[in-house]
Amino acid sequence: MNQVAERLVPFGESIFSTMSRLAVEHKAVNLSQGFPDFDGPDWLKEAAVRAVQSGPNQYAPSPGNPLLRQKLSQKMQRESGLQYNPDTEITVCSGATEGIAAVLLGLLNPGDEVILFEPFYDSYPACVALAGATARYLPFQLPDFMVDWAALEKLINARTRAILVNTPGNPCGKVFSLEELAQLAQLAERHPHVLFITDEVYEHIVFAPARHACLAAQPGMRERTLVISSFSKTLSMTGWKIGYVFAPAHLTAAVRASHQFLTFCSVSPLQAAMAEVMDRLPAYVEELAGEYLQRRDLWCSLLEEAGIPYRVPQGSYFVISDVRSLGHQDDVQFCRWITQELGVAAIPASAFYHTPGAGQGLVRWAFCKGLDTLREGGKRLLPLRKS
Ligand SMILES: Cc1ncc(COP(=O)(O)O)c(C=O)c1O
Repeated sequence: MNQVAERLVPFGESIFSTMSRLAVEHKAVNLSQGFPDFDGPDWLKEAAVRAVQSGPNQYAPSPGNPLLRQKLSQKMQRESGLQYNPDTEITVCSGATEGIAAVLLGLLNPGDEVILFEPFYDSYPACVALAGATARYLPFQLPDFMVDWAALEKLINARTRAILVNTPGNPCGKVFSLEELAQLAQLAERHPHVLFITDEVYEHIVFAPARHACLAAQPGMRERTLVISSFSKTLSMTGWKIGYVFAPAHLTAAVRASHQFLTFCSVSPLQAAMAEVMDRLPAYVEELAGEYLQRRDLWCSLLEEAGIPYRVPQGSYFVISDVRSLGHQDDVQFCRWITQELGVAAIPASAFYHTPGAGQGLVRWAFCKGLDTLREGGKRLLPLRKS
């Protein structure tokens, strides 16, 4: 194993693989995996079939299908009022996962630091390590996952290359408010050497009164922000792995430099299919948010019935519970126990923390499942209720 791979060894087998294996072993209702147990719309599948049948089936241009980049540019303009040149400022990649890797590998030098909020999406620390850089961690303040602004400012130093912001957030369900985004922009003004990377894959799964907004749309931020997102969650097609990165041309050049040697391009016919259906997206995402609202409210009411505390998420499809008040201090043990004894699998959220002891007792439930699956999960959790 070389030194680069060695940097990844401490990350071990992902908690998702462990919990999914346990879930299968115990025939558990699996609320651990962060992907839907249903597919996206038929019209999208039909577009994919057409694209496979008539092509393109050879490599796409490395930056992405030109029509798709054009449609992405229109999407961004419509939703955030920001203009990005499809030729020089938009890159299609193999899911946000590759987008994150391409951005971090393209921008970071050994010795650089990247600030990550805790809880984080698990690929961030791994990709920072792959790039030979150092992650600095800042836990959100519980119970509402608020930013400790003074602590954030203290973490910034001459080596800080970037701050990574995930909104709407996995696993905490936090949606950065306009006020918080404005505060980040003010912070940026005080520290002009720092870049901002936003991961917005849950951009269309947001519950009123929360609203998703792009940090890049804040004054002065477009030129120093890389916006990563994907269609995985928006179209309930996580296996398609079509992601995209918006960034000013000089930063896009860095992203494309690594992207061309990571995957070169994402799957051509699926990019073409996406391009074909992009005009249907505005109507579709409204429906999607409504359906997830129903799932969120159902799952929260089932947790309520089982006497399990929870924080109502503002976005994403995850709910966090702090089970310490139920007498369970260790979230890993709790998750193993409910999988084995009650037949419901969830993710121990301490896996999304690096700071020792942080996140203990937090559990993540994924509610991107059929309503009957959620009801069955809720029923199985009822024994937890204290009479
Ligand atoms: C916050 C976050 N970012 C990125 C990803 C990966 O997205 P993709 O499927 O587009 O690679 C996920 C998937 O769970 C996620 O939750």
